[in-house]
Amino acid sequence: MIDTLEKTEYKFGTKAIHAGQEPDPVTGAIMTPIYQTSTFVQKSPGAHKGYAYARGKNPTRVALEKCIASLEKAKHGLCFSSGMGATDAIIKLLRPGDEVIASDDLYGGSYRMFTKVFAHFGIVFHFVNMDNTNDISKHVNSKTKMLWVETPTNPMMRIVDIEKCAEIAKKNNLLLVVDNTFASPYLQNPLDLGAHIVLHSVTKYIGGHSDLIMGATCTNDDSLQEQLAFIANSCGAVPGPMDSFLVLRGIKTLHLRMERHCSNGKAIAMFLKSHPKVEKVYWPGFPDHPQHAVAKKQMRDFGGMISFILKGNSMDEAFRVASNTKVFSLAESLGGVESLIGHPASMTHASIPKELREKSGVVDSLLRLSVGVEDIDDLINDLKQAIG
Ligand SMILES: Cc1ncc(COP(=O)(O)O)c(C=O)c1O
Repeated sequence: MIDTLEKTEYKFGTKAIHAGQEPDPVTGAIMTPIYQTSTFVQKSPGAHKGYAYARGKNPTRVALEKCIASLEKAKHGLCFSSGMGATDAIIKLLRPGDEVIASDDLYGGSYRMFTKVFAHFGIVFHFVNMDNTNDISKHVNSKTKMLWVETPTNPMMRIVDIEKCAEIAKKNNLLLVVDNTFASPYLQNPLDLGAHIVLHSVTKYIGGHSDLIMGATCTNDDSLQEQLAFIANSCGAVPGPMDSFLVLRGIKTLHLRMERHCSNGKAIAMFLKSHPKVEKVYWPGFPDHPQHAVAKKQMRDFGGMISFILKGNSMDEAFRVASNTKVFSLAESLGGVESLIGHPASMTHASIPKELREKSGVVDSLLRLSVGVEDIDDLINDLKQAIG
């Protein structure tokens, strides 16, 4: 069995297929069974085989948690019913009065949870442009407990220097949390760069097939893992065994999918950059991207997420393009095998006030692509005909 103890022995693709999984001891089934059960028999009170009640632990979920942890080179992994469930659990590590410094170009749902849910419980959030990490320190005070980083950022594809954030976190005794959803563990391992907790919306690249909702946390810290597992069991945002099985199936091709996401992403970024009707393309692989050097330092490749604005900055024109693609589907979400196009201002980022949104670059004409793994010629031809 390839588990996290053997994490250094095997490369990514081998771990994606095998980590945390062994043939079923009862039948020899090669694939992890879907343990569709809520409870487990006990010989006498407390005498069981490691599983008592499935909110706390389920064997299909445990196999997946070990696999995700292994890909993040983490000691521990924990799965949640959604990325937001994982976010919720991490913020519940805090107490009223504690302060969080978060990147200003943040997934809209995270912003909504911070400002519309946890602010009512006395947790204070500061949204800060993290392009220059020196600016972060200006917001640190004696109540600051957590740095919340998303990189690449959504949807502006800015890159935050994780190592520099880790230095600030260490100096000020803060927890550094990195939402690694956009990069996936294939492109970036924040724990290696000094983060304390990595968060994933497993819904995206890790699941990879747009057929379920799930979240995960990874950490090397035993105490943080214990606290997060306590919150998960107490608050109950845990995924079911069927979804855990589907992710175990999807994760086996994460490395193959990511290679294609990256090569297709690069080809589309180049195509858009040279298109006469396109004003600006946001993709960290361009040498003139403001944080290209940081991306090169902390990522293995540049991914398949691209945002762009059309010349004239017209919302109607952006709507026209988004409604006219045939291979790219107009939908929220990202990271699946199929290509998606989205309009952040009215979809994923609608919950962020317009002026704040526009300050971080999310103008009304911005379009975001999640480039899938289809044939690149079809993807480029589709954009060609839609942009016109
Ligand atoms: C960067 C990022 N983090 C977290 C989430 C939330 O994940 P979920 O939709 O699985 O709850 C999303 C969802 O789009 C996301 O894009």
